Amino acid sequence: MIVRNASQLVCVASRGEGVKRQQMLRDLFIIPNGAVVVSDGIIQWVGRTSDLPPVSPNVEILDASGKIVLPGFIDSHTHLVFTGSRENEFEQRLQGKTYEEIAAGGGGINATVQQVRRASKEELKTVTRRRLQRLLSFGVTTVEIKSGYGLTLTDELKCLEVTAELNQEGPWELVPTFLGAHAVPPEFQGDREGYIRLLVDEMLPEVRRRRLAEFCDVFCERGAFTLEESERVLKRAHELGMKLKVHADEFSACGGAELAARWRATSADHLLCITDAGINALARSDTVATLLPGTAFFLGLNYAPARRLIEAGLPVALASDCNPGTSPTENLPLIGSLACTQMKMLPAEVVTALTLNAATALDRSERLGSIEVGKQADLIVCDLPDYRQLFYHFGVGYVWRVIKRGRVVYAA
Ligand code: NIG
Ligand code: FE
Repeated sequence: MIVRNASQLVCVASRGEGVKRQQMLRDLFIIPNGAVVVSDGIIQWVGRTSDLPPVSPNVEILDASGKIVLPGFIDSHTHLVFTGSRENEFEQRLQGKTYEEIAAGGGGINATVQQVRRASKEELKTVTRRRLQRLLSFGVTTVEIKSGYGLTLTDELKCLEVTAELNQEGPWELVPTFLGAHAVPPEFQGDREGYIRLLVDEMLPEVRRRRLAEFCDVFCERGAFTLEESERVLKRAHELGMKLKVHADEFSACGGAELAARWRATSADHLLCITDAGINALARSDTVATLLPGTAFFLGLNYAPARRLIEAGLPVALASDCNPGTSPTENLPLIGSLACTQMKMLPAEVVTALTLNAATALDRSERLGSIEVGKQADLIVCDLPDYRQLFYHFGVGYVWRVIKRGRVVYAA
């Protein structure tokens, strides 16, 4: 396949860069009037359309005149496997209740847990597949999916199996994360220690044995898991050979960023309340700072200090956090618009944060996240003349074609 005549071919990297920080975040390596040659699902050639090598007659040609071509977006933080919805809590918040008050009163994560436990695997697959189709229509070709609404061994395995089966089905690529440490479930309210032991002694080893999760995540937060509890879960996951992520400093500064740095987590996510000490700890690590401005927007909170994080040299990624409580959206480009208007990130920085740096947050930057020879051909063609319009023309669908592993898998 050849994609040609793109008004801008936004490569994001050109020399196999793994992750970008500071000024490099803005370097998108844009080729005007660009073209890409793909075969066997891999990018074989990148350059100007006028320099294209001779084309054999049976090659599929995609004319991207007046359009831009980018690497497929990567959503590196979602909670996609759930049933039901929580618009009742949305309304309560509009009347002054906070997310944490609602959660403490039996709503929040545990409200969704009740519904997920009742749902069959087939029901969960059907609703999750619909969300993945929506993500695809917004140009998202790779999606991380956390468990965390089952909170029994059986129900967590059920959710992880949903992800494994939908990954097989494709065309998307899914990255499974075990988030058994999402909330203490109702039956363990008087026995937190019992739940931690269940996580560490039974759930983690079984999830690992069945190879159902690549990452282990913990919600380190007041009302969720303490620093010490989180550390026990991360330690066990690390011993079992899993890679780590942390929900860090979302509602309060509780040392989550430092915890992530200490355990060399692949990413520390949220960071709305990160402290200077947390920034310093992450600056000395390779941990990606994944920001989720959909959550601040939807809950009416202060945004993560993106500019300070970038200036401190942290590699910043952006993700949707798609979940029924704090960010019910599949519109990842809209998250990019929030990053611009609310966190003052530049459009170029946002593109990097949704592609190459998001690939790094999933330990996949060698294969995904940029348009370079040798990388997997995950591309999107958007009906816009300039990449800055991705976030300027906000909240609408402009994705024209999505290509995954060298095949067109979505057409508007
Ligand atoms: O990332 N912080 C924890 N988990 C989700 C919220 C999940 C829910 O409310 O259902 C989040 O914000
Ligand atoms: Fe989350």
